[in-house]
Amino acid sequence: MKKAKVIIDKDFTIAEIDEKVFSSFVEPLGRCIYGGIYEPGHESADEDGFRQDVMEYIKPLNLTLNRFPGGNFTSTYRWEDGIGPKKERPRRVEVAWQCIETNEFGLDEFAKWSDKNGSDVMMTVNLATRGVLEAMDCVEYCNFEGGTYWSEMRKKNGFEKPLNYKYWCLSNEIDGIWQVGQKPGREYGLLAKEAAKGMKLIDSEIKTVLAGSSSPGQDTFPAFDVEALEESYDFIDYLSVHHYIGNMENDSANYLAKPMVTDRYLDNVAAAIEFVKAKKRSEHEVYISFDEFNTWHSIAREERFEKKWRVAPPLLEDTYTAEDALALGGMLLSVLRHADSVKIACVSELVNCISHIRTRNQGGCWVLPPYYAFLHYTQYGRGTALLTKVDSDVYDSKDYKDVPYLDAQAVVDAQDHITVFAINRSLEEQLEMSLELRGFEGYSVKKHIVLTADDPKATNTEDTPDAVKPAENGNARCENGCVKAVLDKMSWNVICLSK
Ligand code: AHR
Repeated sequence: MKKAKVIIDKDFTIAEIDEKVFSSFVEPLGRCIYGGIYEPGHESADEDGFRQDVMEYIKPLNLTLNRFPGGNFTSTYRWEDGIGPKKERPRRVEVAWQCIETNEFGLDEFAKWSDKNGSDVMMTVNLATRGVLEAMDCVEYCNFEGGTYWSEMRKKNGFEKPLNYKYWCLSNEIDGIWQVGQKPGREYGLLAKEAAKGMKLIDSEIKTVLAGSSSPGQDTFPAFDVEALEESYDFIDYLSVHHYIGNMENDSANYLAKPMVTDRYLDNVAAAIEFVKAKKRSEHEVYISFDEFNTWHSIAREERFEKKWRVAPPLLEDTYTAEDALALGGMLLSVLRHADSVKIACVSELVNCISHIRTRNQGGCWVLPPYYAFLHYTQYGRGTALLTKVDSDVYDSKDYKDVPYLDAQAVVDAQDHITVFAINRSLEEQLEMSLELRGFEGYSVKKHIVLTADDPKATNTEDTPDAVKPAENGNARCENGCVKAVLDKMSWNVICLSK
């Protein structure tokens, strides 16, 4: 059996966890929207065409923000196409995903859907192929009280009150060669600064998000981020970075180590921000918006080019399995561990496309195993992140050395309830965890939830939706100020403690 020791101490905290790290991302890509959150005529659709069977899985996540509309989609998007009467909206070529966009669902529909869902919207404007003025117009449409062209248009379209969107992404992955309108860091930084300036002159309450690196593997990381930040620092509030991990090599031990790359990446991004702040002698704080991350295996397969110009085809619908729950879980623990620097985090995406909520057009809705890791994170991850010291047995995988079998992160909430998230990465053996509670007295284990499967590739389908799901059957117990637990091989664990 593998072994690991953990220490948490009431006096050693990382930071309060921002509510905005419990967010997601919705893009008109594949069936994320069409056939996902929106399908008029579906038996569960409401009067606006919003699927309620899908909403039932989204609601418990209690999402703070949903980023919209992209994503790569944004780079050739005209936001005005998605407002007003649907029959007047243009059908367009959508080059990022090689599809036809009908624009039946746009800004107006997303505003309604978000309202029903109880979450806020983080808008992305197109600075790749459009300019400062179009971005400012969008702010005027969404947030200006009234009496102007765009604010009156909003009212005419059914939104009397301003939508008051606070968070605005200044384009998406503009460092990427795949992006129409790709720009070098300095050029983009100058443009983003002017856009942020103009947008903030319309609404001084908004916060702007600079598009940083799209992955730690980009040759231009972190120079792109530093250069863009240097040109725009005082006008922006967040730096967006993205990260996807996958098991393309079909080597589970190697795959489960990949959240360590996320940890290092977020450390480096935080350091890049600190570097620019110091160089500029600035008091202004810029935080990380980790507004796309997830597991993604088909990233290397260009399925969008196989059959072009379809309307909402199934794209990027990987079959996510039990091992993906642990991989995503590791990324989520990394977000909590970076609570001092990561203040926005969006799992990408919400439905069907790279997602764990899956639907069939005119059919059912079910969830894949990683959904539960995200659900637990949103349910038990709110509060303050505690410094969680782990001393674990380790292994070497194909690409990584000294990978701790145990990944763990603890959180304490406002009522002093403690949650310990723990992942046993071992594919073969149980792991004996002993966690010392320093400064926390009189606690006992209230719940120990376990998500595991005999087969790392086990998953759920429409016909077998409960094949992999969590159970409250863990064995954690408190003994003399220590939590002792034997964690199943390849398991995701949530241990809830209170007095
Ligand atoms: O989420 C899918 C795509 O991944 C997004 O459109 C893009 O930003 C990223 O490359």
